[in-house]
Amino acid sequence: MSGSSLKRFSVSMEGDLLSSFDHLVTLRGYENRSEAVRDLVREAIVKQSYNDSEQIIAGSILLFYNHEQRNLLEEMTEVQHDKHDLILATTHFHLDYGSCLELIVVKGKVKEIQELSHQLTSLKGVSYGKFTVAPVEEI
Ligand code: NI
Repeated sequence: MSGSSLKRFSVSMEGDLLSSFDHLVTLRGYENRSEAVRDLVREAIVKQSYNDSEQIIAGSILLFYNHEQRNLLEEMTEVQHDKHDLILATTHFHLDYGSCLELIVVKGKVKEIQELSHQLTSLKGVSYGKFTVAPVEEI
């Protein structure tokens, strides 16, 4: 069966991120990086399929970024204005001279919130993005 045979692909990531990943691989007792990646991918797929895209959810998007990254603040503001109907509140924390933490509280359909989260976390200069949600009853 072709679906179950092993396929190879290459992954590029920053050295710091790779070091952290290798640390995780050791901590969790994986044999190697491939085994760890497979496990993380399975976990992500399960999480993804669990969600009903039409369900109304509330949650938060947490972003760490460097505000000196060119165009990042403009792009981030534009995305948030574009999706203003999904955003309940935004709080910005200046962590040090360059790094910022932004907490965005959101409410809306799963598919819309996921799209917003992907748009924000994929912006160049965002070093970490975390999306947490809880289902809420539709009013
Ligand atoms: Ni700041």
